[in-house]
Amino acid sequence: MSTSDSGSTADSPTDAPQFRPDPETASVIIFGASGDLTARKLLPALYDLWNDGYLCDQSPIIGVARREKTDEGFRGEIFEAMNGQGRDGAISPDQWERFSKRLFYRQLDIATADGYPNFKKQLEEIEDAQGTGRNRIVYMATSPDLFLPAIEHLGFVNMIPGRESAQWLRVVFEKPFGHDLTSAQQLTDNLRRLLREQQIYRIDHYLGKETVQNILLFRFGNSIFEPLLNRNHVDHIQITVSESQGLERGRGGYYDNSGALRDVLQNHVLQLLCLIAMEPPALFNSVDLHEEKLKVLKALSGGNKGDITNWVVPGQYSAGSVEGKPAISYLSEERIPPDSRTETFVAMKVQVDNWRWAGVPFYLRTGKRLPARVSEIAVQFKLPPLNLFNTVECDGNICALVGAQPNQLVFRIQPSESIKLSFSTKRPGMQYQIHPVTMDFNYKTFTQPLPEAYERLLLDVLRGDSTLFMRSDELEAAWQFVTPILDFWNRKKTLPEPYRSGSWGPRAADQLLNNDGRSWRSPAP
Ligand code: BG6
Repeated sequence: MSTSDSGSTADSPTDAPQFRPDPETASVIIFGASGDLTARKLLPALYDLWNDGYLCDQSPIIGVARREKTDEGFRGEIFEAMNGQGRDGAISPDQWERFSKRLFYRQLDIATADGYPNFKKQLEEIEDAQGTGRNRIVYMATSPDLFLPAIEHLGFVNMIPGRESAQWLRVVFEKPFGHDLTSAQQLTDNLRRLLREQQIYRIDHYLGKETVQNILLFRFGNSIFEPLLNRNHVDHIQITVSESQGLERGRGGYYDNSGALRDVLQNHVLQLLCLIAMEPPALFNSVDLHEEKLKVLKALSGGNKGDITNWVVPGQYSAGSVEGKPAISYLSEERIPPDSRTETFVAMKVQVDNWRWAGVPFYLRTGKRLPARVSEIAVQFKLPPLNLFNTVECDGNICALVGAQPNQLVFRIQPSESIKLSFSTKRPGMQYQIHPVTMDFNYKTFTQPLPEAYERLLLDVLRGDSTLFMRSDELEAAWQFVTPILDFWNRKKTLPEPYRSGSWGPRAADQLLNNDGRSWRSPAP
């Protein structure tokens, strides 16, 4: 490790051998294969898994959607969307030829039962030709209203193996899983009539990010930091998931019914909060981890601050400029009603009412059209009890006496993936002058590229490991926390406070911290 403000030279186990078990064999069936997610995330992840030897040569990947398309057409589209690139660089024609042979496309109206018998027959033909067997992953990359009908139809054609069967079916559900607490519970209840919980994989792609997984390893794989992460030493914690982009093309319909609270805070932000706040699990396994995360979610509250408006701030972007480019307002985006009350930003001050964290504020924020795409958790420690050292710092003609700055431990999830610890040192010279510096671990010290979130998560589904997926009670606890806020906004017809595109959100969000004598960090990209 170095102790500089710029970069580091951490020991790098760069050529450490990777544990690689036998590749897994199963059919991967993607429902909703015409969508953006399939081309941008799922197929590139499957290619990299196959290229790294994790996905068996006999495993077919079958895209399923309503549009008519040939296998060749589908393969061409995917290649184009991948821009001829895998994670490790350009894909050679020979590699693509070998990989694309296992890519198939079958037309099916997922919503209606009629096509399923024929679909099953076609699938079995592919599997028999490949010698795959009947182990299957079905990835539901569709709109959520198709989740239940699709599973019912699979049930009608006996594609859901029972507990005793030697074959398995695992179904991955993209978010949103439910719209609020009641709908999430209903969906789980309905699916449970057809699938066992062990067959259900509710995805939150943040959990697949390498840097997110490292939060647990950092906390529980070291002994020197964990004793400090509690109310005795921590002043407060800030969690930011900010995006510079606005609405991606074609997403207006979904997003306007969702908003930042449902789209990102309910899942990604609360998961980050769980990982930084949870107690160490007794064992590092799925059950123990879920139990500990669940306890955090159950302890989450807005405190005794009265009205929700005192601790939650919704915002909506107006026109401005982001990263040097002009940006239109949310209300001018495609398919957004001119009177939309949907929030594109939300900030809140919450607390985790347990022994470890009582009294420590957690400030959460997420939003679109903010100055940079940054996700991070910043733990700010308390100041030393006595201020013994001061430095005169001048800015032009204005000089001030500056004392110790609070130590900060910052987990940078993306981009510039890193962990930074800031502390004070003596500025070289004949006086005791205090100067802040950082210890900086950057992921670049590992030469191998970080796997994409979907790669890791798809591999876990193949392995049957649900540790990095959301269990139903965990998901419901997150909805339980968020639903009263949604209901309140709905009841009061709350208008989100406008903020200029390219700013860090509405003024009221700053006020939330200023009221406590604190301020938000302005993380650089
Ligand atoms: C998705 C949201 O879950 O996460 C998107 O639906 C958001 O609106 C995205 O843009 C952010 O993910 P990432 O990995 O780019 O931080």
